[in-house]
Amino acid sequence: MATKFEMGMIKVFFLMGVVLIVACETPSTAPPPFVPVGDVQQLMEMVIDPAADIVWESVGTIVTLDGTEEIFPRSDEEWSTVRNSAMVLAESGNLLMVGDRSKGEGPWMIMSQALVEAGMVALEAAESKDPEAVFAVGEQIYNACETCHVLYWYTEEDAVIR
Ligand code: HEC
Repeated sequence: MATKFEMGMIKVFFLMGVVLIVACETPSTAPPPFVPVGDVQQLMEMVIDPAADIVWESVGTIVTLDGTEEIFPRSDEEWSTVRNSAMVLAESGNLLMVGDRSKGEGPWMIMSQALVEAGMVALEAAESKDPEAVFAVGEQIYNACETCHVLYWYTEEDAVIR
């Protein structure tokens, strides 16, 4: 007659076995079940552009006849909003590299990486609550966007207008 403790141990070993079998059944080389939901245009419109706007608009100087007003996040909540958008930008660079979104191994990857890097700098600036650093990274973000747009988006016609 097995004691309660022994029955308990048998159950534990049985469960460990199940876990091991499940772990072994999934070959480590299988790709993750990745389902891209948005294409490049949708990621730009719904994810990347709104996040960039939040970072760009979070700092700056407004000059009026009455004087100048400095804009920067004032509460922890406002800083979190900037930080979250910086993270969205950084990870969006990764999203641009995978699946059908990627347009080849060359410049597309370098420019997606540039977005990851700009997002990471913005993240650090927001985490250290440094308005000047957020302002400075705004240009780095802008350059990451535009370098890619010139190559992969704008037509010659656009180039004349811009
Ligand atoms: C790796 C390349 C790449 C990077 C980096 C990139 N974009 Fe784009 N973006 C594109 C391409 C390609 C299109 C055109 C998509 C289409 O119409 O199929 C586009 C289109 C857009 C559009 C138009 C979307 C629409 O509604 O049609 C906006 C807005 C935009 N990008 C904003 C940004 C901003 C802001 C950034 C930087 C924070 C950025 N993009 C970074 C490649 C990039």
